[in-house]
Amino acid sequence: MEKLKLMSLYVDFRKDFAYIEKELERSVNSSSPIIRQASLHLLRAGGKRIRPIFVILASKFGTYSLEDVAKVAVSLELVHMASLVHDDVIDDSDMRRGFKTVKARWDNRIAMYAGDFIFSRALTSIGEIEIPAVHQLLANTMLEICKGEIIQIDHQRKTDQTIRDYLRRIKRKTALLLSSSCELGALVSGADPEIVRKMRRFGYFTGMAFQIVDDILDITSTDKELGKPAGSDLLNGHLTLPILYIKNDAQFRPYMERSFDGTLTEADRQAMLSYIRSTGAIQMAQAVSDLYLQKAMDELSALPDGEAKKAFMQITAFIGRRKY
Ligand code: IPE
Ligand code: IPE
Ligand code: MG
Ligand code: MG
Repeated sequence: MEKLKLMSLYVDFRKDFAYIEKELERSVNSSSPIIRQASLHLLRAGGKRIRPIFVILASKFGTYSLEDVAKVAVSLELVHMASLVHDDVIDDSDMRRGFKTVKARWDNRIAMYAGDFIFSRALTSIGEIEIPAVHQLLANTMLEICKGEIIQIDHQRKTDQTIRDYLRRIKRKTALLLSSSCELGALVSGADPEIVRKMRRFGYFTGMAFQIVDDILDITSTDKELGKPAGSDLLNGHLTLPILYIKNDAQFRPYMERSFDGTLTEADRQAMLSYIRSTGAIQMAQAVSDLYLQKAMDELSALPDGEAKKAFMQITAFIGRRKY
């Protein structure tokens, strides 16, 4: 149901979207059967394709050429996919998008190179765009994602980290890629510099909200809805925003310690999740996400009216209430 609703947002752009999907499939073709299968496995498992959507919509504010826009959109989805393949190695995750992860279906070594292969294909695709600023921006974004993921490893199980640490980490690992999707879409279509700036800011604010909601869903959703066990973040030692509000709560503390040392039982996991839900931590995190979404809406308000702006508004609303 939710899935259908998200697709309906894209109705006006369906043809462009189908073209990008075809280009994505083409881009992961490889003469190595394992690499090809591993990439196609993740691609065909689905995903929301938020980053390509942002590229398409942002490029509507300039002079739109589907061919160029598709190269950028494909590249952004591939950077995202590659980072997921690597992220699942780091988090030792077996499920992604409702299917086995590359590391679980094959192994960690294959996942390392499948991820690198997908990154390289992202560069192949964007390489055809002859605007140096586009390449510099993408390279810098990839660098920041790496930093974000490394900082996340460093922060694992550290209970003295602050909300500020968390916000800086998610800016790097998630928000900048969404921000760059918007900025690159606007750049490649030659949009006005003021629009490029607004798109960058809009993508950043929605990106922050997007990761906060992802972290909330890890606690509030079911295993089935998530396509992986709920509470995975804590089991992996990641302290997300809701957790930072209750990390010193006397009743929560033992759950957290057992999540970290691997002694949490299945019954404990369920009890821990319902305890977190009863504390108000979810509502506090939701309020922070809503603040970012409001800032995103403010950026949109000054943009020219049209289908793209309308779709951006709908997606912003979707991010606030998404269930997947
Ligand atoms: C998952 O991103 C990782 C985060 C940055 C939260 P998405 O939620 O966009 O993943 P897919 O592409 O829809 O699977
Ligand atoms: C993933 O964040 C962000 C990147 C891949 C850079 P998460 O670790 O929260 O994503 P999920 O929950 O595994 O999808
Ligand atoms: Mg993960
Ligand atoms: Mg997550």
